[in-house]
Formats: sequence, structure tokens, C-alpha cells
Amino acid sequence: MLTQHKVSAPWWRNAVVYEIYIRSFADSDGDGLGDLEGIRSRLPYLASLGVDALWLTPFYPSPDADHGYDVADYTDVDRRFGSLAGFDALVTDAHDQGLRIVIDLVPNHTSIEHPWFREHPEYYVWTDEPNNWLSVFGGPAWTHDEEHGRFYLHLFAREQPDLDWHNPDVRREFESIYRFWLDRGVDGIRVDVAHGLFKDPELADEAEPVPGAELHSFGRRRAIDRPELHPYYRDLRRLVDSYPGDRFLVGEVYFREAARVADYVRPDELHLVFNFTLLHEEWSSGSMRAAIERTLASMAGVGATPSWVLETHDVARLPTRYGGGADGLRRARAAALLLLALPGTAFLYQGQELGLEEVELADELRQDPIFFRTGGTRLGRDGCRVPLPWTADEPGFGFTTGTPWLPQPDGFGARSVTAQDGREYSTLELFRAALAQRPGGPFAWVESPPGTLVFMRDELTCAVNVDGEPLPVPAGELVLASEPLEGLLPAGAGAWISTH
Ligand code: NOJ
Repeated sequence: MLTQHKVSAPWWRNAVVYEIYIRSFADSDGDGLGDLEGIRSRLPYLASLGVDALWLTPFYPSPDADHGYDVADYTDVDRRFGSLAGFDALVTDAHDQGLRIVIDLVPNHTSIEHPWFREHPEYYVWTDEPNNWLSVFGGPAWTHDEEHGRFYLHLFAREQPDLDWHNPDVRREFESIYRFWLDRGVDGIRVDVAHGLFKDPELADEAEPVPGAELHSFGRRRAIDRPELHPYYRDLRRLVDSYPGDRFLVGEVYFREAARVADYVRPDELHLVFNFTLLHEEWSSGSMRAAIERTLASMAGVGATPSWVLETHDVARLPTRYGGGADGLRRARAAALLLLALPGTAFLYQGQELGLEEVELADELRQDPIFFRTGGTRLGRDGCRVPLPWTADEPGFGFTTGTPWLPQPDGFGARSVTAQDGREYSTLELFRAALAQRPGGPFAWVESPPGTLVFMRDELTCAVNVDGEPLPVPAGELVLASEPLEGLLPAGAGAWISTH
């Protein structure tokens, strides 16, 4: 059962949230797409993994121009994924097993097939003369609409028209959408593109045209990061805080600069933000240490909870980004010990606990529309979205009895849950052990040789040798190691040591 920690800090300040990319998690009806019932059937796995909450990516009716991030109805469940009754059953069962539910709302844009686009064109951003804004997914951010004879704005795909947040009716619509889901008992809400929403009312050109994919990287553009967001988030926070049970808002604030991200988590704004600073770094001690320091300093500066994420459904799998092969996996396992020892809230992405690598897919098998739209200049995000391997040998690897919506590679079974379950030093068991023994308490760096990151949380020391000389394991009792150790921690390895 869920426990409320009313007297201490809210639960989400030290939580581990597990991202479920719904179409790739577990399929209950054999159509090759994961669904809510599939998630429900795997709750015991998630509870035994030791995470605190599940973030469900969009399950709303959607024509899938951006795999659910183009929403056609914000208050229903796409029939391919289940029903509202099925959602309610999932919330109840998750709560019974001690797991909280976080949903994903997409307020910056709708699907072009949302009825609002035809019935309430005034909810959207229009112009007769497109400015120089570019889409994150490539090309201009403006498309001509025949029916209206004008251009509409889309910071993402052209099937994702941007809403006009200066229109009070848009705010009212979303207030009832937030209430709809809060009333159904969700414990948290992720706000997609939380740094978007309001656009410069003048729609003036950006000083320099910002390449679309870079739009997110830095703050303060005319199209994003507007001052109007802050009073809005203060109102939204009041709404969420008026519900019982320590619920939270987590914003996808996709800036590289930790200081800009911190602006959104002042005490009366969003409860948490995704902090992508560490995710953007390669396996390099200098830049990883700097990212951690920047994050801790900027979050402390506003009194906010730090948060950490290394994998999501939008980026290549970590072992692959860390160099691939055996070394990439070793580093990703060491990074898991780092991630789960840092103070604050950690986000995991399904399959991270299995050490999955990016799957190479032939172009004709790719489903991410972004890949095709940008003509291959961007890799596309399918490689991290391949359905999970649950079992070692069955066709569909226990994900589906049908044909998975993206093909799973040969040999995927070796990384499956059943292949790793109970096996000493498997990545799954490493995550389970780390989640069970996650430290708390204040954070302090411990002086250590170049190339290594060593810090303490109360009586636990986390030591990660990123790219240094072999490091003697710090004194104390070895709690957990990312690989078998013989007195020394080689580059690419990490350990937790108790000084109790
Ligand atoms: C961020 C989501 O994570 C991504 O998958 C999506 O394409 C964009 N927001 C646009 O909604």
C-alpha cells in the first residue's frame, strides 16, 4: 500500500521514477503494441525492481504522427492501449503494490486531428507572414493551411500545431484536463515541452535563426522560455497542491544550462524538472563532474530537488552512447551506481535495468516519422524503442504473442528479464540491489585522483572510476560493485562502500 510521509519531505524528493514507453513495454492482446493491461500484468516485476513510480508515456487517442505526442483527445485512452476503466484499474492495482502513477500531458501542441483545430482555430497560433522560426524536427515551423488560408505554427511535426497559450480558453481547457486526471488519482504529471507553451505575441524573428534541433538547447528564445510561463506554473502548482497526497508536476525543460532549468523549479513553480545535463555528457570524468556540480549548485540556489536522467525514449541507449560493446555496458552499469547514489529524484527508462543497447534498424523498418522527415540527417529514435525482451526464447520474447511493432534483434533473449533474473552480476540484479540500498542524507565530494568521481551520502561512499588509473577501493565494507573487483576499481567500474 502507499504510505504518506506527511511529516517528512514529500515522497517524490527522493524517488526513482521508471519510464514506461507504453507501446514497447508489454502487449496483452497480441496486436504487437504494448498496452495498459500489459503494464498491469507486469506490476509485480516493477514492484520487485524497487522503483517508486511509473511514468506512462501518452496513451491518449492519437494518429501517431509523433507516437502519441500528437494528442487528439486529452481525456480518453486510445482503444489500442485500453480504456478509461482499464486506466482506473491500473492506478488501483499500482497503488495496491506501492507504486505511484505519473502521466504525460502534452500542452504545447495538439494533433492536427484534434477537433479543436477545426472547431476552435483561435486556440492555435496563426500568421499570414511566416517568421524565421524553425521546427525542432527540421524545416520551417510554419505550414500553410488551405482551409484557413493562413500559416499555423508547429515547433515539432506539421501534424502537431502549437496552441496559443495567450488565449484564456486554452488555459481553461487545460485546467479541466489536469483536473480530470488528478481526479482519477494520478500521483504526478509530466509536462511535455514545459519550456514551450507561450510564444512571443509579436511573432518576431529570432535574432539568429536557431537550427530546429538546437531550439531546446539554450534558453530565452522568442518561441520558448517566455516570462509568461512562470506565473502560469505558479497557478498550476496551486491547482496540483490543492489535491491530497503530495502529487507533483515534473517539467520537461530541455535546456543544457542547469541555471536556466532551475528557473522553473522555484519553490512555488514546478515541483521537479527533468535535468538533462548529465545525459548530454559523454563518458568523461571532467564533464560529468562539471554537470553534477552545475546541477547541484543551480538546484540548491532555488531550493529545488535535483533530478537525474540518463536514458529516455528520445535518446540512444546508454551503453551505446558510452562506446558500445562490453566497455559501453560496463560504463552504463557504473553510471547506474552514480545515478542512484546522487541526491534527489532519478528517472530510469524501461530496459535500462537490462543493459539494453541501441538496436540498429534498417531504414525501411524504422517507424519514427522524424527519421523520414529529416531525410536521415537525424538518426530517429526507434533504436531505443524496440519492445522489451521479457523471456529468452519465445517468439516476441514474451513481449507479444503477435508481431512486435518494431522488430526485436536476434539474440535479444540473452538480455531478457528471465535470462538475468537471479543471476549474480547481471545488470538487472545490479539495479535491484542498488534500488534496495539507495542512500539518503547530505552529499559531499571526497577528494580523489584525476579521472574518478567519489562522494559520500551519510555513511555510504559512491566511487566511480570514469577514466582514471585503477583506484584502490575506498576503505569500508563493499556494498555493491558494478563488476567483480579485486581490490582495485578499474576505469569503467563503480562501487558503493559502507563506512558504517
Ligand atoms: C518530448 C517527447 O519526449 C518527445 O518524444 C516528443 O517528440 C516531443 N516532446 C514533442 O512532443
